[in-house]
Amino acid sequence: VYDATAGCVRIIDQTRLPGRLVLAELRALPDFCRAIVDMQVRGAPLIGIAAAYGLALALRDSSTPQTLAMAAAQLNATRPTAVNLSWALQRVKHAVEDASPPHWPALALAEAAAIAQEEIDACRRIGEAGLPLLESLAGRGPVNILTHCNAGRLATLEWGTATAPIYLAHQRGVPVHVWVSETRPRNQGVGLTAWELQEAGIPYTVIADNAAGALMQAGRVHCVLVGSDRTAANGDVCNKIGTYMKAVLAREHRIPFYAALPLSTVDWDCTDGGRIPIEERAESEVLAVSLCDGQGEAVSRPLSVAGARAWNPAFDVTPAALVTAIITEAGVAPATPEGLSRLRGRRGDHS
Ligand code: MRU
Repeated sequence: VYDATAGCVRIIDQTRLPGRLVLAELRALPDFCRAIVDMQVRGAPLIGIAAAYGLALALRDSSTPQTLAMAAAQLNATRPTAVNLSWALQRVKHAVEDASPPHWPALALAEAAAIAQEEIDACRRIGEAGLPLLESLAGRGPVNILTHCNAGRLATLEWGTATAPIYLAHQRGVPVHVWVSETRPRNQGVGLTAWELQEAGIPYTVIADNAAGALMQAGRVHCVLVGSDRTAANGDVCNKIGTYMKAVLAREHRIPFYAALPLSTVDWDCTDGGRIPIEERAESEVLAVSLCDGQGEAVSRPLSVAGARAWNPAFDVTPAALVTAIITEAGVAPATPEGLSRLRGRRGDHS
């Protein structure tokens, strides 16, 4: 949330959840870069919104072409995979480019606010588009939805992407139950999604990532519903590491696999998922676990022997062929080039 009086953006520090709800203030460019790199703010749409505000506040501090180029480049380099980051920066740049520098801070702030509001609206519409899919799965018991990572309101604002149809179903009286995959190594499922669902009063059960196969085999999952950090123009969906594994399992068990995403997450210039840059993060995220102590402070505990090595890709690509449908603010479409391009432009549009 942008606080005009205080001249800062207030965020929930997601590295402190679920132990403590701590707000942090971002005032200048280095604060925004650090918050994105350290994942105090995370999730594709939220990274884009934070970057847009970061650029706007950098221009407030120095409204020159050099700052515009330097700040945009620094923010863009924070994380490589979610395309919302470069998309939002591009929008802010376009919003200011025809005006003279003294007008840039106000224009940039207005564009950042517009992006935030559009993402909220898009997520609400994702909810409406996805609701009939959940309703169609309703039987005698609750609809059991398996999700991975956190594509909820912490990753966006208000509705979330994958969680929007779930929230709406819950509000409209469709019984739902969410299987929350823990999402090692950073535990966004057990730490963040469970926290959100608990706040919303939606029934959920956490599973270890490794339990997804057994769960599907036992017939206890009606659909898989995840978000995306970048979707290629051919419908390949890049999302948190482990998503691909669930898509393969879903296909084996004939369970629908849906990806919910605002169109800001589609990279129209990317012809297939193999071209998406996959972030590799520190080995320590795999070799240690971060826990909250009794005071809600994060402490790190080693899991392996000193000297162990780890490979830590943060995302994987689910081929379009495994995606039953893509749910966007412009409607539901098959994960094909034609399906996606039919949706393109319906948002208003800046893609
Ligand atoms: O590394 P993260 O936590 O930023 O990754 C987030 C995800 O993979 C989410 O599933 C994604 O952003 C979904 S969009 C709300």
